[in-house]
Amino acid sequence: MGDADADFSSRPSSARIYDALLGGNHNFEADREAAKRLLSMIPAAGEMARANRAFLNRAVQFLLDAGVRQFLDIGSGIPTVGNVHEIAQRRVPEARVVYIDIDPVAVAHAGEILADNPRATVVQADMRFPEAILEHPGVRRLIDLDQPVGLLLVAMLHFVPEDDAFVAVDRLREALPAGSYIVISHGVSETAADSELEGITALYRRTDVSAASGRTRAEIMRFFGDTELVPPGLVWVHEWPDGPQDKTGPADMAVVAAIGRKP
Ligand SMILES: C[S@@+](CC[C@H](N)C(=O)[O-])C[C@H]1O[C@@H](n2cnc3c(N)ncnc32)[C@H](O)[C@@H]1O
Repeated sequence: MGDADADFSSRPSSARIYDALLGGNHNFEADREAAKRLLSMIPAAGEMARANRAFLNRAVQFLLDAGVRQFLDIGSGIPTVGNVHEIAQRRVPEARVVYIDIDPVAVAHAGEILADNPRATVVQADMRFPEAILEHPGVRRLIDLDQPVGLLLVAMLHFVPEDDAFVAVDRLREALPAGSYIVISHGVSETAADSELEGITALYRRTDVSAASGRTRAEIMRFFGDTELVPPGLVWVHEWPDGPQDKTGPADMAVVAAIGRKP
């Protein structure tokens, strides 16, 4: 990675730990160490990351089938195989995508990849300030809030502390017109042992994010507000929408997913 990234290299970030889990190369020694520690606590973490990425792909295909042509991908991460604009624009060249992430390295890499793409952009922002996202010129240029939007919050809300997350998602959901969709995958707290959860929280406390804790399914459901969940509802991420999607679905999956449609 180049000099511009050097300032960020000493402290692990959630975006780069995830990139390391996926086998990407936009991460530093500190991130790889953190990924190793995470794998020692959750051996299936890499499989979960890949299953989550595969869910993202299926979710975007589903939204395209439903007629969605604009995507707001918050907590989009470091570009890796199967980015939303690639999936969407391959099928529908006029599809528009705005990526949002708090991580400067993720934003810099996305910016490079999107430099020649007039229908996709990236904005550095913290989802806890939804107004700044909704009013950002880059968002306003590509996202028409009078047309259905696909709001993606995939594997990111467990990094956002309690009330902030609910208030911010409520505000984002409110801003979307009828016919929009909200896509969420999220770590669940009901499966991991307490000691594991403490270890994971402690690991992420040393990163750029202020929280890393799963929520119960009931708490995760609150993010969907008055949207109508599309079948099959909230299920393990590798089982959406119709059962295990590959032969090697992890037995100890700890991430669930659902898609809600705003009536
Ligand atoms: C595990 S990655 C998920 C990436 C992608 N959504 C996916 O599912 O493949 C979580 C991302 O959320 C971002 N993130 C964490 N807290 C955030 C916040 N408050 N606002 C915006 N992005 C945030 C991190 O920087 C990271 O890139």
